Amino acid sequence: MKTRKYLLPAAVAGVLAISLSACGGGGGGGTQTGGGDAAANLDGRGPITYVTGKDNAAVQQPTVDRWNAAHPNEKVTLKEQTDQADQQHDDLVQHFQSKDAGYDLVTVDVVWTAEFAAKGWLQPLKDKMAVDTGALLQPTVKAATYNNTLYAVPVHSDGGMLYYRKDLVPTPPKTWDEMMSMCSIAKANKIGCYAGQYQKYEGLTVNAAEAINTFGGKIVDDAGKATVNSAESKEGLGKLVAAYKDGNIPAQGITFQEEQGRQAFEDGKLLFLRNWPYVYNLAKTDGASKVKETFDVAPLPGKDGPGASSLGGHSAAVSVYSKYKATALDFAKFLLEDEQQKFFALQGSLAPVKASMYKDADIVAKAPYMPTLLTSIENAVPRPVTPFYPGVTKAVQDNAYAALKGEKSVDQALTDMQAAIDSAK
Ligand code: GLC
Repeated sequence: MKTRKYLLPAAVAGVLAISLSACGGGGGGGTQTGGGDAAANLDGRGPITYVTGKDNAAVQQPTVDRWNAAHPNEKVTLKEQTDQADQQHDDLVQHFQSKDAGYDLVTVDVVWTAEFAAKGWLQPLKDKMAVDTGALLQPTVKAATYNNTLYAVPVHSDGGMLYYRKDLVPTPPKTWDEMMSMCSIAKANKIGCYAGQYQKYEGLTVNAAEAINTFGGKIVDDAGKATVNSAESKEGLGKLVAAYKDGNIPAQGITFQEEQGRQAFEDGKLLFLRNWPYVYNLAKTDGASKVKETFDVAPLPGKDGPGASSLGGHSAAVSVYSKYKATALDFAKFLLEDEQQKFFALQGSLAPVKASMYKDADIVAKAPYMPTLLTSIENAVPRPVTPFYPGVTKAVQDNAYAALKGEKSVDQALTDMQAAIDSAK
């Protein structure tokens, strides 16, 4: 008989994690590989380090300074990682593996919650450490939850938007095909037409998933089994591959992460850009931006109407190895307060996690893209939720990349992607 490995559904994997930790004893946070002591240091207060990805939006240090002014005995030191999602992930893994008590509070991308929680690295936020999530957008809470336990405090959400040049395209395209037909405008103006993030890293998974989901495909089903090899996925990934082949996505797009795309757009070298909301304020205010007055944002274009964004965003998680968990949790809650959420939105054009912020008069007046962003987030599709996410995202990236480069047909890429997802554990 053929043996097939399927991804464990999140719930089953979680139960497994719990029963293993029960055997291991020590009150761990549910661990397959030996996490820290989730019962220790709950009242610990003192100086902490907050580890987060590069602060492109320039909001973190001022926030830390505000906290420090009011908490001289519980000062927070900011440690910035690079702005590359995979490097941030690997840095956290290394520090958790060495049980580093110096990484007290860490920023967790929505796609890492399951992996880090299952490994017992994140403090479960329950009982004494409970956080009220009633006012938060549900997708952000879900993304910080694993096995029915909250493991991180949502800090900002993320949804893809279409940045476009309103001086060249007065009405933004609603569908992918319409957008492609507008590439003649880019050509006439001697600029690139469209780009997203296509370097081989997490951003490519985001973009490939959007192409697949937008045309009705699904990477995994509700039980976690790969379902990506379908006619719908073929259509979606096929659109992306065709756009790259015919130059509607410029050749250098294959080297783009978020920042390279932002630079190209700000330099006036792209008609359309798929990117996250943080780009909005930078493109409006950057000294070097040539498009300050000439761009706007619209929903991602889809098959017949709006496209499906991948859900992005970050949460703050207390390390199970921290000595000062009470301080770390208080600082995470501080990030949730209206003042900070508003600052993130107005200063950094980051997506708030609190529903009320999208109706806040100040924010609505100063950030006209808010309704577009909220719609993007509410309709966003989460990437697969699994403790084995590193293998899943690699399966998506490797094969989407090979298809874009023309090294594999779209058919072959989807066949291989499906097989690699199912063996990703
Ligand atoms: C953004 C998103 C995150 C995603 C990453 C990919 O930071 O918030 O969820 O994984 O981009 O580069």
